[in-house]
Amino acid sequence: MMTATAVAHPNIALVKYWGKADAQLALPATGSVSMGLDVFPTTTTVTLDGAAAADSLVLNGGAAPDGALLRVQQFLDLVRQAAGSSVHAAVVSENTVPTGAGLASSASGFAALATAAAAAYGLDLSERDLSRLARRGSGSATRSIPGGVAVWHAGDDQASFAERVPAPPMAMVVVTISAGEKAIGSREAMRRTIATSPFYPAWVESTTATVDDMLAACAAGDFARIGELTESNALRMHATIEGAFPPIRYLNARSVAVFDAVAGLRADGLTAYATADAGPNVVVLTTPEDRGAVAAALADLGDVIESGTGPGAHLLRSEGTEA
Ligand code: PMV
Repeated sequence: MMTATAVAHPNIALVKYWGKADAQLALPATGSVSMGLDVFPTTTTVTLDGAAAADSLVLNGGAAPDGALLRVQQFLDLVRQAAGSSVHAAVVSENTVPTGAGLASSASGFAALATAAAAAYGLDLSERDLSRLARRGSGSATRSIPGGVAVWHAGDDQASFAERVPAPPMAMVVVTISAGEKAIGSREAMRRTIATSPFYPAWVESTTATVDDMLAACAAGDFARIGELTESNALRMHATIEGAFPPIRYLNARSVAVFDAVAGLRADGLTAYATADAGPNVVVLTTPEDRGAVAAALADLGDVIESGTGPGAHLLRSEGTEA
């Protein structure tokens, strides 16, 4: 029986991924850039079971919702195809990200699953190929394989992977406004945005340029430029999404209040720039020096958690012989 356990952390995009060029292969319409967190890890164990009639999934000690099980089964089908195996697996995952709150629980989830499943099925994949595999589970998971500050390249199946890039030391403060389920998942919201938002072509064009600007700012260690690009790109993504029909709006009044408070912190001389994913929570990009002051200043607006830059996905254990 082959069993492998892996851990992965979420990442927060500085330049967002919003929309696929190819849904089947999960190829993004644009590149994106992220910072991996060192909080909210997901730990996943994959155990092959020659006697099982189907894959199973236990999430945080309980039965997983049907949708999550289906996505895991479809992902394991890809791994089995690559490994030439027909054996099913038992997947046990402990996810410490508030699920579905727009904090990319799918990123750490599928990065950990890809790493554990590849090892359990005996695939010896490079970081690049693990990142390509994780991409098929969830786009943002591509960037949780390398961790750190990473770019996920747009391109064809071979070229669309994530890798680390040089960048100055960074930290984030996660301001959780709501840990509840989000109203509409990113897959459906992306489809609707592409199909109906008149702003979508401009999003693709501007974000393609912003990725290059962000990589240059990271290489130059220009934190102010990194920050202003981060906040601008997040607001452009939300504007594009709000342009869908029927409209989708993830930010609520409390989210907007955090954006305003962050602008106030900047006026006071702190390094702080706001971003938000597909949910109401706001994440503040800051420096390791300022993270404590930023967290203290925002504590009245939500639950705050500080994070440094996190590691890539990695195996904790892998053992056993083929059943
Ligand atoms: O691949 P998903 O479903 O995790 O989509 C991620 C979308 C955003 O979090 C909003 C942006 C991003 O680049 O992480």
